[in-house]
Amino acid sequence: MNIRPLLTDLQAILGPAHRRTLRIYLAWVITYGVLQGVAAALLVPALRALLSGDLPGAMTWVGVMAVVVAATCVAHYIQAMKGFAVAMVVLTTMHERIGDHLGALPVGWFTNEKVGRLSRIVTTGTVMVGGLFAHLLTPLVAGAATPATIALVTFLFDWRLAVAMLVSAPLLYAIFNWAGRLVGKGDQLSDAAAVTAANRVVEFARHQRTLRAFGRGAEGHRPLDEAITEQHRVGRRAMWLSVPGILAGGFATQLAFTVLIVVGVVLALGGSVDPVALIAVLALAARFTGPLAELSALSGAVRMAHNDVRRIAAVLEEEPLAEPMVPAALPCPGEIELSGVSFGYTPDQPVLRDVSFTVPPRTMTALVGASGSGKTTVTRLIARFWDAGAGTIRVGGADVRHQRTEGLMAQVAMVFQDVYLFDDTLEANIRVGRPTATDEEIREAGRLAGVDEIVARLPHGWTTRVGEGGAALSGGERQRVSIARAIVKDAPIVLLDEATAALDAENERYVREALRTLMTRSTLLVIAHRLQTVVAADQIVVLDNGVVAERGTHPELLAAGDRYAAFWQERNRAKGWRLTASG
Ligand SMILES: Nc1ncnc2c1ncn2[C@@H]1O[C@H](COP(=O)(O)OP(=O)(O)OP(=O)(O)O)[C@@H](O)[C@H]1O
Ligand SMILES: [Mg+2]
Repeated sequence: MNIRPLLTDLQAILGPAHRRTLRIYLAWVITYGVLQGVAAALLVPALRALLSGDLPGAMTWVGVMAVVVAATCVAHYIQAMKGFAVAMVVLTTMHERIGDHLGALPVGWFTNEKVGRLSRIVTTGTVMVGGLFAHLLTPLVAGAATPATIALVTFLFDWRLAVAMLVSAPLLYAIFNWAGRLVGKGDQLSDAAAVTAANRVVEFARHQRTLRAFGRGAEGHRPLDEAITEQHRVGRRAMWLSVPGILAGGFATQLAFTVLIVVGVVLALGGSVDPVALIAVLALAARFTGPLAELSALSGAVRMAHNDVRRIAAVLEEEPLAEPMVPAALPCPGEIELSGVSFGYTPDQPVLRDVSFTVPPRTMTALVGASGSGKTTVTRLIARFWDAGAGTIRVGGADVRHQRTEGLMAQVAMVFQDVYLFDDTLEANIRVGRPTATDEEIREAGRLAGVDEIVARLPHGWTTRVGEGGAALSGGERQRVSIARAIVKDAPIVLLDEATAALDAENERYVREALRTLMTRSTLLVIAHRLQTVVAADQIVVLDNGVVAERGTHPELLAAGDRYAAFWQERNRAKGWRLTASG
């Protein structure tokens, strides 16, 4: 079986700085394998001398053998130490590089599927790498070097037997390779099924509330059941796939041994090999096929390990966001400008088409449009969760692609449509906005966003924990905490995606007040569902199906009597938007 691809991927994970460590280890394993082969080969002259009654000669050979065996032991020890060292280096660089790399990947990369796979890679991948060197690479490389050495040394004694050995090698190699490929294929199938099942379990757990609300909590969750059944089915299939390979590998090794014996006996009977030498060579044949049998058992494990290493390498190969070494200057702090922006999450489905608008510093723009028209997508592109397919997005006057992530994030505070809070205290959750903020600043931001009103109700006040994701709070309350975060961050630009689920009067009041505060010091781009927000905006951008349909102030757009006016009247009639103009 071919271990080159495995080594190439290992080198890719290690990076240029640590490749030497891997090479030194491999050199020692080869030395160990060759010495082991030489020690075995020395059996032939030793036995020959012994059986022909040459005792002093035999003693000399045994002495040489003892020296080689001692050297083998030393090499074995050194390669084990080197293997341990390289495993440690692989583990630490793997974690460091994955960590660094994830930080540089676009936020859009982190889909549920990817996250499920990632946790599997980082946990089981670690265990795999830990055992890879001692349990796999050493027996594998030595298991190839030893028989090769034996075959070469056999030439010194009898070329025909040596040829028989060398001929059997590629044959065995082909069979092991085939067996390994079957096992590797089974492993790939079962890995995919395991990832799907794991994702379904997470989904099942996370959506318990929804499922129960629809009376589906206790009885099975069909996608989960299906995924688990599929996993079992694939598991069985993977097992059956590996059986013929293992059988064939073992059989082929036995066959090679038998062929060597038959060749030897035929030669001896023909009188061209003396029987004494034959015994010695047969002993050698046993030492030749032994490591090969081990190789056959390992061929499947190599494929599996390679699959694991490949998955890690694949994460590292994901294209990170390109960032300049030196960030561009920001000529217009607080300004957002989209020009000719087109984008789709998948290439065949455009979500935004030729979107252009500017939000001047310290003004407020309201983004309105039907559900799915691409409003949230616009804010994601501004924060560079994804890169636009065409067009340019400038934040602070510079193309977002010419800025560094820290620089861009320092300019922008985001309040998401669905706010995720950390399972920590309210105070800590607000402090996420600016870790250096003083307690007073946190409280003041909390007051402005109406968090103090939540605090008054909670048993432990500011130090109440909010539960995983903020489960102890309502959607509107979570968004208020998130707005407090944005206030504390005091960024030049605030992107706010109003929660549709929190249209109660009280929440509305707090959000309005917080907006008023934010307006005095930041540029605001608000995805608005409330009339007051829209009316207060300096500019309204109407998105329709990914296209800017209209742009202007509220009176202008009403006067235009077009889409916005219709939209507005519709909402008005449905009482979805409140019309208490003064609030
Ligand atoms: N992560 C994603 N992957 C693929 N498609 C997506 C993703 N997020 C959104 N979309 C699709 O892009 C389109 C625009 O979505 P977007 O979330 O920007 O709409 P929206 O205007 O914010 O809607 P809403 O008012 O309901 O929040 C929708 O068709 C949506 O299905
Ligand atoms: Mg949205």
